[in-house]
Amino acid sequence: MNDQADNQISNSTDAASLADVCEKRYTRRGFVKTGVALGVGGALAQLAGCGSDEQALIAEQDNQWRENNPYKLNFSFKEVEHGGDEHHHIAPDHEAKVLLRWGDTLFKDSPAYDPHNQSAEAQLTQFGYNNDYVGYLSLKPKSGQQARALLCVNHEYAIPGLMFPDFPADGLQKITAEQVRITQAAVGNSIVEVGLRDGEWSVNTDSKYNRRISALDTKIEIAGPAAGHHRMKTSTDRRGRYVIGTLNNCAGGMTPWGTYLTCEENFNAHFLGEVEPNHPEAENHRRYNVPTDYTNWGKHDKRFDIGVEPNEPNRFGWVVEIDPLDPKSTPKKRTALGRFKHEGGECIVAPNGQLVVYMGDDQRFEYLYKFVSRDKVNMEHPSENRDLLDHGTLYVAKFHDEGYLEWLPLVLENGPLEAAFETQADILIEARRAADLLGATPMDRPEDVVPNPLTGKVYAMLTNNTKREEANNANPRAENYFGHIVEIKELDNDFASERGYWDVLVKCGNPKIASHQSEWNSETTENGWFASPDNGVIDPSGRLWVSSDQGEKAFMSGTNDGLWALETEGALRGTGKMFFRVPNGAELCGPAFSDNGESLFVAVQHPGDHGKPGVARVETATTQWPDFQDGMPPRPSILVIRKKAGGKVG
Ligand code: FEO
Ligand code: CA
Repeated sequence: MNDQADNQISNSTDAASLADVCEKRYTRRGFVKTGVALGVGGALAQLAGCGSDEQALIAEQDNQWRENNPYKLNFSFKEVEHGGDEHHHIAPDHEAKVLLRWGDTLFKDSPAYDPHNQSAEAQLTQFGYNNDYVGYLSLKPKSGQQARALLCVNHEYAIPGLMFPDFPADGLQKITAEQVRITQAAVGNSIVEVGLRDGEWSVNTDSKYNRRISALDTKIEIAGPAAGHHRMKTSTDRRGRYVIGTLNNCAGGMTPWGTYLTCEENFNAHFLGEVEPNHPEAENHRRYNVPTDYTNWGKHDKRFDIGVEPNEPNRFGWVVEIDPLDPKSTPKKRTALGRFKHEGGECIVAPNGQLVVYMGDDQRFEYLYKFVSRDKVNMEHPSENRDLLDHGTLYVAKFHDEGYLEWLPLVLENGPLEAAFETQADILIEARRAADLLGATPMDRPEDVVPNPLTGKVYAMLTNNTKREEANNANPRAENYFGHIVEIKELDNDFASERGYWDVLVKCGNPKIASHQSEWNSETTENGWFASPDNGVIDPSGRLWVSSDQGEKAFMSGTNDGLWALETEGALRGTGKMFFRVPNGAELCGPAFSDNGESLFVAVQHPGDHGKPGVARVETATTQWPDFQDGMPPRPSILVIRKKAGGKVG
């Protein structure tokens, strides 16, 4: 999402992020320097004796892993230059084609996109607005096809000023009931069948799988420990079991059994009104910045007025599971994964078969989480995983300065939580407060957290935090304008472990400007560094790609957002390379690879925006991408990227 909406603060806890367990014998500065030369394990070996045997053990594991490292492929594409204009730019040895635009028809009988004649009913049959996460689910190709898949796409939020031509300067105050319905229809998700034939990807509008899920009319089940809880009940859902809609779907993930996790981020931006200061939900709402009204939905739809429905915000901020192969299925809000401003939900199976879902809570000074399922993933009988996400343990990360981390379980039996919460459902509804009480480490806006199945390492994108006054080792710069990436390795190569160790992979910003205090491999060119890492993806060769969302800070880097390749192993570790650049006003989301790594789907979100909520208008849009037609709004779109000569992207 536009950076503005994410960068509030509501965490007033004074959690010390630093060592409670291990005496500090080495300064982190020394640690980082040796870390660059030796790798995490080597540096940790130097710390032997500092704390537990655990550290010596993980150092040994890291060295063993390095000897058997399967990762060999470096990036070889020709770089794009930093810069900014109305167009997108792709590495010259690749090509990028527009595949799906906001308003494109998803069904045979969908009305054609007409910005001057919009309706909620039309929008519900068309591709939604502000595409963010993209998931790729392979299907068996049909005759003559080289590949076939379902794209599972999030539509994060609406921008009425860029959607409706002639939207007035004070339009949000005057927004009509129908415009509210259209914007509610424009967000949520699209599931779209695409196919590759003769080297060209296209959309199949005849597919039985195509589906729109929206904030307007999709019934969604509340599942897991908070289902039926009294704090989930409203006047229209007296049992606390069903919600209409999902919203602010930012990033996501695909489960190993082929379902799609879509993650609700800045849900607070859709609520207005107030509750009495002594209302039982008042403190909970404050901790989640409810209300922060960027939409004025509550003017016409009273469930978004917390004075009318004080529990409605408790029904958003969850991870929602959708079965793309069953278009009639009811999506489920999986409350066991906790309620916060979810960025993504990237999945990986631990060695013993449990599912692990890594998640960030994208706001300044919020936390990094992971969910570990109670039960094992059953790949022989995928239907057995139907409710796997309803049972398990939610953990929050505590980063120790010495380079190791603890995953703290958010369960009722855990010390301070027993006294503070009545039920496990209360802990999950107020996951942030529970994490505060356990002393989790406040981070610099955790975005995507991506596990690499080939290397066993996990990458956490910390996008920026200009309000940080005191640095610590996991958030190493005060006034962090440019963000950084933390690399985590779990103990025993076990993603389900309650212990791990970590290092900073890169500190973003311009390496030529000393005040940025950035750290990159010296092989990084003047185009290879970036700022505000947001989405990450591991390609089928095990390589890391990172997209950026600088918001109104783009002027500081001098380049539009884009997609960068980032080396994580060997001599080039920490080298960035610019691969794709978005048009003015946009951020890059999505990145999703086809199974063979030869196609890459990217989502260009909010092209033409101005970086501040409520400012952008069609007539002053900073680009008319991708149509470039007079009077036509810019349109968020999915592009597909392929290598001109064929073969793996990158
Ligand atoms: Fe919706 Fe944190 O980006
Ligand atoms: Ca994002």
